[in-house]
Amino acid sequence: MIGRVTTETPWWRDAVIYQVYIRSFADSDGDGIGDLAGLTDRLGYLADLGVDAVWINPWYASPQVDNGYDVADYRAVEPAYGTLADAEKLIARAHEHGLRVIPDLVPNHLSAEHAWFREALAAGPGSPERARFVFRPGRGPDGAEPPTNWRAHFGGPAWTRVAGPDGGPGEWYLHLFDPGQPDLDWRNAEVRAEFESVLRFWFDRGVDGFRVDVAHGLVKDPGLPDLADVDDLTGASLGPGAHPFADRDEVQEIYESWRRIAEEYPGARMFVAEAWVPSPERLARYVSPGRLHTAFNFDFLLAPWEPAALREAIDTTTGYLHGVGAPATWVLENHDVVRAPSRYGRRRDGAVDVALGERRARAAFVLMAALPGGVYVYQGQELGLPQVDDIPDEALRDPTWERSGHTERGRDGSRVPLPWTAGGSSFGFGPDGGDAPWLPQPDWFGRYAVDVESDDAGSTLALVRAALARRAALDALGEGPLTWESEPGDPVLSFRRGPGFACVVNLAAAPVPLPEHAEVLLTSAPLDDGLLPADCAVWLSVG
Ligand code: GLC
Repeated sequence: MIGRVTTETPWWRDAVIYQVYIRSFADSDGDGIGDLAGLTDRLGYLADLGVDAVWINPWYASPQVDNGYDVADYRAVEPAYGTLADAEKLIARAHEHGLRVIPDLVPNHLSAEHAWFREALAAGPGSPERARFVFRPGRGPDGAEPPTNWRAHFGGPAWTRVAGPDGGPGEWYLHLFDPGQPDLDWRNAEVRAEFESVLRFWFDRGVDGFRVDVAHGLVKDPGLPDLADVDDLTGASLGPGAHPFADRDEVQEIYESWRRIAEEYPGARMFVAEAWVPSPERLARYVSPGRLHTAFNFDFLLAPWEPAALREAIDTTTGYLHGVGAPATWVLENHDVVRAPSRYGRRRDGAVDVALGERRARAAFVLMAALPGGVYVYQGQELGLPQVDDIPDEALRDPTWERSGHTERGRDGSRVPLPWTAGGSSFGFGPDGGDAPWLPQPDWFGRYAVDVESDDAGSTLALVRAALARRAALDALGEGPLTWESEPGDPVLSFRRGPGFACVVNLAAAPVPLPEHAEVLLTSAPLDDGLLPADCAVWLSVG
């Protein structure tokens, strides 16, 4: 049996899920790009870390304009990552290790190299092939202006003009991300049927669920109205469900049909939504009965390292999710955001105090692992890796860099290939002497290598291993109630899980005494003469 499945609690309600950014995890063949065989070789490391499942960023055939979020064929594996047989082997080996496998599904858009988009270009205006996408004539004289004023997430207009049948300027197509990622029209029945078939293709091959990319997107207002606030990409400035391309109520029907498919399969298959929405109330709609199982709680990730903000994020999320019977899903890092030690260590002047950020990130992890529900760990988070802020301009690969006209450096700093060993030409990411990693690693990366941290009882790796082992062993953790002991406004957060467990996080400037306890189970940093230092979290067994 895999993981912590019991008859009462499906595994996904309190799982620890490790995010593998496949391109940057482990390179088995020395081409500088991580691959499925590299991941398969390292499954033992993940099982020892104490996680229940792996979410793997898109492994499909892709021109890699957005590192695989531009899928050219949903039923084929990216050749740089391996083959379909490698994916099947990975799934089988992971299951042998007791790990579940959750690929990424990218339904909002596909690649401009996908057969459907090529057919759409060839077939011309008004064709059923174009009806799978959002093609429109332009506005203004000669249709030279885009159909709406919408901006793409990576910068620039959300529309690109294609050639008309006569070779002159023709229609425009919508792409909320890069021009290489045309948006699908989810009002089209063929689009819906295709993704249902893709789900079955991978469920038939044994995957245990999917992370749903841009789950708040998909359905657009067919009237394509202009936005009053072009910077509002999630709907915060409009009423609930009123944004033309974000968080529209109609997306939920799609998820209801997917849930029915997941339930046809044995073994509790699951979905986790990447839904950037304006409020926890809106997030709860994605995980209401009969829809997706879980959704990342980004309010917690976005909260500053301040007691009131963290408490508020915890309470509002658990409150709304509890209301619909869904578990909370906590996340502090992923491939789109600045790594926690750099985020929490950033001072007002923009400089980063890495030591402070690392202390806080360790405390935040200990806090997160004590919260009710499931937890995500992004590769390298277990090593305490900071953001790599100084990747040379010419090495940047995130489309944000080009699309913003070199004003936004983008997300590459959280995607640098992992250091496995202190030595070696790529710190063990690939075979020694192989091609340079696809993003350069800084000289200091070796300090955070897995082999260095494995030998250091004070390392972040040791802390994460201990926290996950404790979490798995303690009945009070995972799903269940949380009761605050501290008052709102206290600089020290303190709560109980079950009758015998307490977590205390000191966000005050000075050390504080611990509450009465039987045993100290875990601390994010050594106690200071029995006191809990600033920016430190502790787990206690209490009477
Ligand atoms: C999601 C992914 C991000 C990607 C975008 C477009 O936000 O997490 O990496 O660029 O979708 O697919």
